[in-house]
Amino acid sequence: MLITIDGPAAAGKGTLAGKLAAKYGLAYFDTGMVYRAVGLEMLLNKKNLSDTDAAIRYARELTFPRMMELSQNPEFRSLAGSKAASVVASIPDVRKALLQMQQDFSKNPIFADGSPACGAIYDGRDTGTVVCPLAEIKLFVTASPEVRAKRRYNEYLQKGLDADYTEVLEQTVARDKNDFSRESSHPAKDAVIFDTSDLSIEEVFAKACEIIENRKKTLEK
Ligand code: C5P
Repeated sequence: MLITIDGPAAAGKGTLAGKLAAKYGLAYFDTGMVYRAVGLEMLLNKKNLSDTDAAIRYARELTFPRMMELSQNPEFRSLAGSKAASVVASIPDVRKALLQMQQDFSKNPIFADGSPACGAIYDGRDTGTVVCPLAEIKLFVTASPEVRAKRRYNEYLQKGLDADYTEVLEQTVARDKNDFSRESSHPAKDAVIFDTSDLSIEEVFAKACEIIENRKKTLEK
């Protein structure tokens, strides 16, 4: 089984994907990690974010183990790391270079401990449109910018990171503008769209399970 969950930053995709992966025994690929890895290479190597050639080079050189190594760096999910990821993600050749690695995972999905899984769940912006256009189940989750900024702000505080709500909101809006200027970030035609602004994590999970069960029934017919 292949499931994709797309939507804007901090809409709750990661939390939902993790819970669904556990329920259905699926391996999980957070595709934002590939862009965060390239963005972090740029920051660590003191490259200007407008240096497109450097970003393309890091994207072409990126391996799965290197991405996992970079993900341990505290800057990986920081405000600066998020901005760098969004900037490099807007370079078409960077996206092209990172596509194969994302698609390969669905052919051979593995759990975090390296053991094989019988399917995968992806989250990102274009997983239902570009990375896995043939996925059986596609979800598109969204929420208002204010709700998403509050969630991200709370995450930073929980991790002990320095954060300012107004700055997080500004960045959320800026990333939306950048990320959704691409047609591929818009919901796939066969995606089920739902707004999580007024829902708890448990309610979002229950709704997603209902959508998946209904879709499975349709596919079995
Ligand atoms: O999902 P996350 O916030 O970790 O993604 C970081 C950035 O990577 C996004 O702001 C977006 O620019 C980019 N991204 C993308 N396509 C994906 C996943 C993430 O362009 N499938």
